[in-house]
Amino acid sequence: KMNTFISGLMSKMTLDEKIGQLNLLTGGEATTGSVVSSDVESKIKKGQVGGMFSFTTPQKIRKAQEIAVQQSRLKIPIIFGQDVIHGYKTTFPIPLALSCSWDLALIEKTARIAAVEASADGLNWTFSPMVDISRDPRWGRISEGSGEDPYLGSKIARAMVKGYQGDDLSRYNTIMACVKHFALYGAAEAGRDYNTTDMSLDRMYNDYLPPYKAAIDAGAGSIMTSFNDINGVPATANKWLMTDLLRKQWGFKGFVVTDYTAVNELMDHGLGNLQTVSALSLNAGVDMDMVGEGFLTTLKKSVQEGKVKAAQIDISCRLVLEAKYKLGLFADPFRYCDEERAKTEILKPEHLQYARLAAGQSFVLLKNDNQTLPLRKTGTVAVIGPLANTGTNMPGTWSVNSDLASTASLIDGMKATLGSSVKILHSVGANLVADEAYQKRATMFGRDIPRDNRPEEEIIKEAVEVAKKSDVVVAALGEASEMTGEASSRTNLEIPDVQKRLLQALLKTGKPVVLVLFTGRPLAIKWEDENVPAILNVWFGGTEAAAAITDVLFGDVNPSGKLTATFPQNVGQVPLYYSHKNTGRPLQNGQWFSKFRSNYLDVSNDPLYPFGYGLSYTSFAYSPIKLSNESFKMGGSITVSVAVTNTGLREGKEVVQLYTQDLVGSSTRPVKELKNFQKISLFPGETKTVTFTISADDLKFYNSSLKYAAEPGDFKVFIGTNSRDVKEAKFKLTL
Ligand code: IFM
Repeated sequence: KMNTFISGLMSKMTLDEKIGQLNLLTGGEATTGSVVSSDVESKIKKGQVGGMFSFTTPQKIRKAQEIAVQQSRLKIPIIFGQDVIHGYKTTFPIPLALSCSWDLALIEKTARIAAVEASADGLNWTFSPMVDISRDPRWGRISEGSGEDPYLGSKIARAMVKGYQGDDLSRYNTIMACVKHFALYGAAEAGRDYNTTDMSLDRMYNDYLPPYKAAIDAGAGSIMTSFNDINGVPATANKWLMTDLLRKQWGFKGFVVTDYTAVNELMDHGLGNLQTVSALSLNAGVDMDMVGEGFLTTLKKSVQEGKVKAAQIDISCRLVLEAKYKLGLFADPFRYCDEERAKTEILKPEHLQYARLAAGQSFVLLKNDNQTLPLRKTGTVAVIGPLANTGTNMPGTWSVNSDLASTASLIDGMKATLGSSVKILHSVGANLVADEAYQKRATMFGRDIPRDNRPEEEIIKEAVEVAKKSDVVVAALGEASEMTGEASSRTNLEIPDVQKRLLQALLKTGKPVVLVLFTGRPLAIKWEDENVPAILNVWFGGTEAAAAITDVLFGDVNPSGKLTATFPQNVGQVPLYYSHKNTGRPLQNGQWFSKFRSNYLDVSNDPLYPFGYGLSYTSFAYSPIKLSNESFKMGGSITVSVAVTNTGLREGKEVVQLYTQDLVGSSTRPVKELKNFQKISLFPGETKTVTFTISADDLKFYNSSLKYAAEPGDFKVFIGTNSRDVKEAKFKLTL
């Protein structure tokens, strides 16, 4: 039915109208580049607009859609997109934080709620999930993904696509997903945004590509090209990537949209003038051009000159029309323009409650000596630091629709949650960073953090006086939200110096100090780990972050988040990730330096906090691993199990993680690879047996001929509370 309808429609379309469908414009404001779409209304009338983004509310969208379906010749509806990344108005924690919940149902539900709110506000397409694997915390956009691991990243990618799209894309409250950024954007050299990537096929296929594929296998309707160069060909012009891999190998049936002005940027990559690069991009398999209008202004000429085939434009136009058909826009172009829904379904109390729950599950307790946490709900707490009294900092990067005005600061949230049982004092204690120009770069998009122009010693002295009057100090320090995200790379991964000096002064008071760490990336906090008794990493927790932080600090919620990206000891270790290769000269276990071995003179190879790490207010003990058999045949399986006991005094959740190592392979294999996990909840004293099945499917990898297969031989299996602290056993896979 769809094919017949679209063929009928396309038979009436001129070449110009087909090219018009490949044009994506903004609603008028620049998002992340300098170009802003102009003459949008007249372009819609001329049939030159296939999609629009950064344009919301049923009223505005209805108006634009009316122009399309009433005043353009063929009355083709527009698709309306937006960056709905971690929630809509109800904002959830940043994706890196959400991934630390290791709770796929929870992550799926956050995407579902985001879809409900976004569709209630007129949208039918989101530029999410962002599934770029990153192992480089210098890269600011590590905050927007699910961390370093392809297995977990793939599971999360799938959960998010399901959350956005549901089972039926044409429903009024589902929206089309757009997997991004295809591909390898998270491997930008030196962590500098938009930088070159150069990667072996082994690494690409085994470590970086799986989450994109998982999202596509889950039915994602669209995919976005990345800005970067891949082995000499920028993604947006990369035919191998967009056609051979994506369409032919993976069977992707949706449409490909570029990132913002990415076609035009091919000129800066050095591939030619606008006409040349537009033709290159379309011929590579790209269907829709975001903002830059290279397709709109040059493709016809390229067809006339024989540089682009009209049939290629037909293919892209059909894919865009199919997406609109699947969204139900031909049946009812105003399906997503329901003003009543906008009033009732956005920022619903249930959504806000879920945001609080999700935030509590995403925080990671990094250190807790002498049970400093949880705090008692009595006495006086000094909440000190430049991030204590700001609500706009809470939602984190890429939260363009977030309801900033009603997002509580940590102090306000604590007061509202605790009432009068705890006296809360505050002093700013430090500026975000010492250098004002740096602060300007680091606090864009109106999320400024006020500066205190007094001399540093005076600001710290005042904070110390406030700390002395309290029973415990909560130091709210770290990064401002816009210090991570797009175009926010850093070469120094420490807490800014000026905040560190404040922390040192607070520790000197002798009061117990809890560091509440705001960050969008793994930070190098070795000094803090050595000197501060308790560290709770709260990332950027969204609309309800302040209440959720209070829940965890005061023990109403027991933290259970586990890191999904390794925290290094220092920036020089980066990239640092748990699933590294062994090398020919590995360090022996327990050593940290040995001459002519693979290591550094000045720091051990160990991370500060490994992948999968995170503490709880209770403790868990693991039994040795039990195997159902010590070997199994291809086509068969074994079960492996451990008994996990809650040995502490509180109910708690634990993420039980299973890793394997392929001891002998036709190519080198990582020292550990995550293959499964279960999140369980245990009462004090309770024991649960956690059982996993391992089959040959779990042991497959892409070999040097890119064949995806398991190889018979010896394996290790590890189960534990993080990627470092594990029990281990051995098994064999036989033919
Ligand atoms: O979706 C984003 C992308 O992640 C970065 N460039 C702009 C796009 C649209 O806003």
